[in-house]
Amino acid sequence: MDKLIELKGIKKVYKVGKVEVHALRGIDLTVRKGEYIAIMGPSGSGKSTLMNIIGCLDTPTEGVYHLEGVPVHEMNDSQLAEIRNKKIGFVFQTFNLLPRANALHNVELPLIYAGVPASRRKKIAEHALEIVGLKDRKHHRPSELSGGQRQRVAIARALVNRPSLLLADEPTGNLDSKAGEEVMKIFEELYENGNTIILVTHEKYIADHARRIVHIRDGRIIDDTGVAS
Ligand SMILES: Nc1ncnc2c1ncn2[C@@H]1O[C@H](COP(=O)(O)OP(=O)(O)OP(=O)(O)O)[C@@H](O)[C@H]1O
Ligand SMILES: [Mg+2]
Repeated sequence: MDKLIELKGIKKVYKVGKVEVHALRGIDLTVRKGEYIAIMGPSGSGKSTLMNIIGCLDTPTEGVYHLEGVPVHEMNDSQLAEIRNKKIGFVFQTFNLLPRANALHNVELPLIYAGVPASRRKKIAEHALEIVGLKDRKHHRPSELSGGQRQRVAIARALVNRPSLLLADEPTGNLDSKAGEEVMKIFEELYENGNTIILVTHEKYIADHARRIVHIRDGRIIDDTGVAS
């Protein structure tokens, strides 16, 4: 089995004043390369917390996390930033694009951080925009694009570093159903091309695009269609 992610006993406790919030209460999860997983669960059940830990945006309070065999839970902030830049592509519910930058420049950003020279950057970013069907919108700013197009720019941006893992937290949450389907079509193509995808959604019809559904409640996995019995 070609393991990409291995989480064991992951707990996350947030302290707010004197109150402790147990956001994750012991998550065990293994993800193989090339899987397409949807995470579902009620609001506040810990989905985003789990995604942030998987995406190295946050660290667990307890537990062990191996990403491609590397013990991520032992890393410091700068090591985590490097892993994020090299291995992980993020897509957020609110797109998180730079409003003043056009589509091409938004997609180029991760490559700038990675120190890729300008001419190569432009080529890679143009190709990523082509993959999401937005080649003819490269000079548009986010405000000059539809919601679905903005999210496709965000997907292109998530792809330019050729990440091992694509994470999407409610990527269709701000889209109407037609734009949502367009975005899901791109995820389907990315999956068929061998990308590993984990997405969070509240919608069953969105989750049904994935090949495996993991249900979370109160910081625990209560159901996982992908666990071999
Ligand atoms: N930075 C934080 N500080 C303190 N508590 C937090 C923080 N982030 C999340 N929490 C708490 O942790 C729990 C899990 O939050 P999380 O954002 O993971 O839920 P979620 O499943 O993504 O919910 P939603 O579907 O509403 O996005 C919640 O009770 C939340 O209030
Ligand atoms: Mg959330």
